[in-house]
Amino acid sequence: MAQHRLIYQIYPSAMGDLREITKRIPQIAEKIQPDYIWLNPIFKSPWRDGGYDVSDYCKIDPRFGTIKDFRHLIAVAKKYNIGILLDLVINHTSSQHDWFHRSELHEERYKDYYVWVNRPLNWKSFFGGPAFDYSALRDEYYLHLYDHSQPDLNFNNPYVIREFIRIIDFWKNEGIAGFRVDSANVLTETNLKKGLIPGLPGFFRYYQTKGTVRILERLFASSKLFTVAEPVGGEFFSKRKLHELTNKAFNASFNIGTLDVADTYFSIKSKIRPLNYRRWLRKLASWSQEPTFSLALESHDTPRAPSRFNANPRVLAMLQFLLPSNYPCIYQGQELGTLNADLSMNINDYPGVQSRQIYRRLRREGKTHRQAMLVVRRTSRDNARQPLDWSEYRLQSQHPDSVLNFYAKLIRLWREDVVIRDGKLKVIKISKAGVFDFCRILGKKRYAVHLDLSGKTKSTLRDDRGEIVITA
Ligand code: GLC
Repeated sequence: MAQHRLIYQIYPSAMGDLREITKRIPQIAEKIQPDYIWLNPIFKSPWRDGGYDVSDYCKIDPRFGTIKDFRHLIAVAKKYNIGILLDLVINHTSSQHDWFHRSELHEERYKDYYVWVNRPLNWKSFFGGPAFDYSALRDEYYLHLYDHSQPDLNFNNPYVIREFIRIIDFWKNEGIAGFRVDSANVLTETNLKKGLIPGLPGFFRYYQTKGTVRILERLFASSKLFTVAEPVGGEFFSKRKLHELTNKAFNASFNIGTLDVADTYFSIKSKIRPLNYRRWLRKLASWSQEPTFSLALESHDTPRAPSRFNANPRVLAMLQFLLPSNYPCIYQGQELGTLNADLSMNINDYPGVQSRQIYRRLRREGKTHRQAMLVVRRTSRDNARQPLDWSEYRLQSQHPDSVLNFYAKLIRLWREDVVIRDGKLKVIKISKAGVFDFCRILGKKRYAVHLDLSGKTKSTLRDDRGEIVITA
């Protein structure tokens, strides 16, 4: 049974450390009042991929503080009725994880912790380049769907499953409320075959298999934790796959593809299509009716939404909270209307490994430096990973007409109004220019919503009598 929960995502290094985050909780609670705060990975990591390369799952990375700081954060969050969600990076570890060292050395217990082959296959990794790399120590090749420093774990190995049962228990005992589970649906490599489906990474050979779902069910279904899946697959992630994940293992799930459909191909970020509002809004309208779908417009993996969709942040907020939205997720700073960062620095100084790899790929494909940088700056994940501006937060808190207070008002409505919460969606019109008219209907009550992403007309929410409730 779907609930109605608001998630607030924090990219910890953009906040400082755990103490800083703890200090900000009262402010976040006052305006947003999230049910959960999802922290991107805070585990020990060499930080090649922003913490998604974990070298110890039961240690806090020193850059964020200590386990004591974490316990304090949990306690303070609890006072504000907020549960903490950790980001469980389950598909791969860092190549600096002890398991990988032992696996490279072919130690009996660890030799099958990762996916090893004698001859590399012609698969591509998500970040570009081959998905298999050579280990001289072991004289074999290992699979990495992401960076070469992120070897894929072998979930066909019961030891690996047991490790994660232990890790989940460890954090549960620390009092967390749940997990966001990273790259959740590509765990079991059952089909290590040659042959690339043109343009697609090799994971399509074992995309959300029954085996993977069974493992996820085993890990999470009985855990009594709140869990959100991040499935890979972009536009290929279907509703059937969503149902499978959320019926069996998770409370809710994202689908990055609902954003990608607007302007890029398949999360690759190296090809930009002209922004297509119609395609995008149709997709959002359809997916928003799935009770376990988590509607997010931004994350640490995307550029800022107002820049990306060339739209007023308030209209985007209306889109996220006035469509059916049981599990909306706000990315830190989104509630201030934050735009893309100024990424005019040298490409080698970009913090994100993905940005640098995309640049290299585009250059290899014959693009000039200028052309390549244009793509990278528009699509880079580094756009949204900048320090949050707290003086701006304070200013907006005090200003009744700020974007922040607009969010606060919408969220109150989202929480308290039964039509916004449970009403059926009726799409009236979706235009190429970005006009989206729809109704929310419950019994005899009805709201009419007019959104205009182009900004040519005012966006409005009107009640039964035609009175404006909210406008932007
Ligand atoms: C997910 C994360 C992304 C990370 C990748 C590899 O897609 O959201 O930031 O790079 O997994 O762990």
